[in-house]
This record gives sequence, C-alpha cells and structure tokens, in this order.
Amino acid sequence: MSASLPPATGTPADLDALRRAAACCTNCDLYREATQTVFGEGPHSAWLMLVGEQPGDREDREGKPFVGPAGRVLDAALERAGIERAEVYLTNVVKHFRFERVGKRRIHREPRVTHIKACRPWLDGELAAVRPAVLATLGAIAAKALLGPTFKVTAQRGTVLGWAGFRLVPTVHPSSILRVPPETRDEALAALVRDLGVVAALRP
Ligand code: URA
Repeated sequence: MSASLPPATGTPADLDALRRAAACCTNCDLYREATQTVFGEGPHSAWLMLVGEQPGDREDREGKPFVGPAGRVLDAALERAGIERAEVYLTNVVKHFRFERVGKRRIHREPRVTHIKACRPWLDGELAAVRPAVLATLGAIAAKALLGPTFKVTAQRGTVLGWAGFRLVPTVHPSSILRVPPETRDEALAALVRDLGVVAALRP
C-alpha cells in the first residue's frame, strides 16, 4: 500500500465524505463509460474488510459491491464460514466497472495498473476510516494491488499475512468458483469456505 496511512479517524462522517468525493472521481478514464462509482459498503467499525477487484455489470447498475453472481457465491461462502455479510465492509480496489461492449453485452475487462493506482486513494481512505482488524483480498488483482505484482494467490491463499499493520488473508475471487467445471465446483467452494474460516478465526 502507500507508504503510510492517513491518521485513523473512523467516524461514519469520514466515510460518507469519502463516498461523496469518490462519486465525482475522474482520476482515470473509467468514469466515462461506467454508470457510477461503486464505493465500499458496510459498517464503519467493521472488524473485517473484504477487498475485491472491481464492480461488475450488476454492481455498476445498482451502485453496490458484490450484488451480482459473484456476490451470491460470496454470500454463500461467508454464511458457511460463519461470517455475516452485515458485519463486513465490502469494497474493491477499482471502483468503476471496466468493460468492453460486445453487441448488447458489457464484458468485464481486467483493470490496468494505471486504473488501480488512480483508485488507490479511495481504498487507502477506506482503510484509514474503517481500520478493520482483518483484511481479506478476493482474487489475484486485489492481492497483487496490495502485496505486489509477484504475489501468488494459489501458493498463499488461506494464510495469515502481516501487511501495513493489518492481518491479511488472501483468497480466490468468488467468481472463480463459477468458472471451474461443474464437477469440481463444490470442492472449489469448500476451499473458499476454508479460507474464510481462517478469516473468521481472527474475529476479535
Ligand atoms: N467482482 C468484484 O471483484 N467486485 C464486485 O463488487 C463484484 C464482482
């Protein structure tokens, strides 16, 4: 992350001010095509922050993180790991949807490093305001954004790392469960639940 976090403040007003400022963000070109900024959501005093990649099609339309197909997988995995969605602050490293139009469809495209860098002040602001006890990154893009480009999620998923004063557990992106062959889907979901179980055990 950036060398140092802004001082901890942790009041809802700080988060609301950040949210309002982010709604007008033009730090990169993604705001031009996206419907809106999808800022993080959850209690300002959450013990856990989950960090995903970027909003998808559904999130872009609704303005909320993880409300589409990946969100449904995440909800199921959280429930099985004994974590309530309502206790979690959910956000993304990039807060505008990046996509390509193919006919009438909007196909997800990975954010570029420049998009991740441009969006970083919002994530740093969320971290400073919420100060969660535990962070979990969902997928390679989020993990590399925080832990560096050589970080390998497959090698270190489900382990407790120290990062910028937080305990951080990397795991896979919930959408990866939807991409594996149907016969291995239960196993892939169980592995995500196991990683989230490691997270749950860190609850203060
Ligand atoms: N994928 C993400 O990484 N974040 C969302 O909010 C939705 C899908």
